[in-house]
Amino acid sequence: HRNKLFGAPHSGHLGRAAHRLRAVNISPSPSSVSPCIGVFDSGVGGLSVLDAIRRRLPDASLVYVGDVAHAPYGDRHPAEVLERCERIVAQLVTFGARVIVVACNTATVLAIETLRHRWPHLRFVGVEPGVKPAAAATRTRRIAVLATPATAASTRLRFLVEQFAPGMHVHIEPCPELAPAIERGLHDDHPALAALLAPSCRNVRMADVDTVVLGCTHYPFVADAIQAQMDRGVALVDTAHAVAERVAVVSRDAIGDTDKLARLRVMATGTSSAMTALLRRCRHLERVAVEPLPI
Ligand code: DGL
Repeated sequence: HRNKLFGAPHSGHLGRAAHRLRAVNISPSPSSVSPCIGVFDSGVGGLSVLDAIRRRLPDASLVYVGDVAHAPYGDRHPAEVLERCERIVAQLVTFGARVIVVACNTATVLAIETLRHRWPHLRFVGVEPGVKPAAAATRTRRIAVLATPATAASTRLRFLVEQFAPGMHVHIEPCPELAPAIERGLHDDHPALAALLAPSCRNVRMADVDTVVLGCTHYPFVADAIQAQMDRGVALVDTAHAVAERVAVVSRDAIGDTDKLARLRVMATGTSSAMTALLRRCRHLERVAVEPLPI
């Protein structure tokens, strides 16, 4: 129910005033900013999700935070990742976020349940490796998942495999170097990329799969380089568009009509030349200046 999304958890104590607030759809906190969708990732990877959301919801206000000063999350302690996610969500709330997209597989695995618990009035959409669409697409019943070490080792990924790909051969390939390299600016046309990808791609070729899941939101930015090292006919699965569909449904409910003054803000917790370069590659994002966010 709509009201549930706007009332503070203890709004019952506020009596009539709170009901009036809810009736006109004004969020009690913060009241001065227009509602938006907040999107975050450890760094630049979530821009691939932001691009898909912008394509699906061109009139929605979007605020993106790339935690570039703390990327990659994949080899950080889970408690540290959670702490960063909580800090970022608290910040996004001050910008008016009512829907939060955790545009990072690693952060979704490590933090989303706690975030939902701590901010019950917000709606959270996470991303997870597209095992389900891959299992639906494979003809040989052999798939591979490329992911960060944290996602690769997660019980969530094991659950997805058991749930959606029972009886299939699923090769999981952790790629410890890849997200950090993309953070440093190694993208599709970079000469060093092929060498960095070679060992992982060789393992995937040896597993003889026909479908490969891009299990980290950074990887779509090197999809062409990955594809180039796969055998012919191998399909790559990226879930950004499915996530954007889900965001559309959730934000219709939580935010309502689209914003006539839709804004797009992109922020980074540290300096990142890769972010500016990647923004230019996103077809649906304007060339906004990346704003510093020292949190
Ligand atoms: N983009 C992230 C993901 O989807 C993260 C990479 C990382 O920071 O380790 O998992």
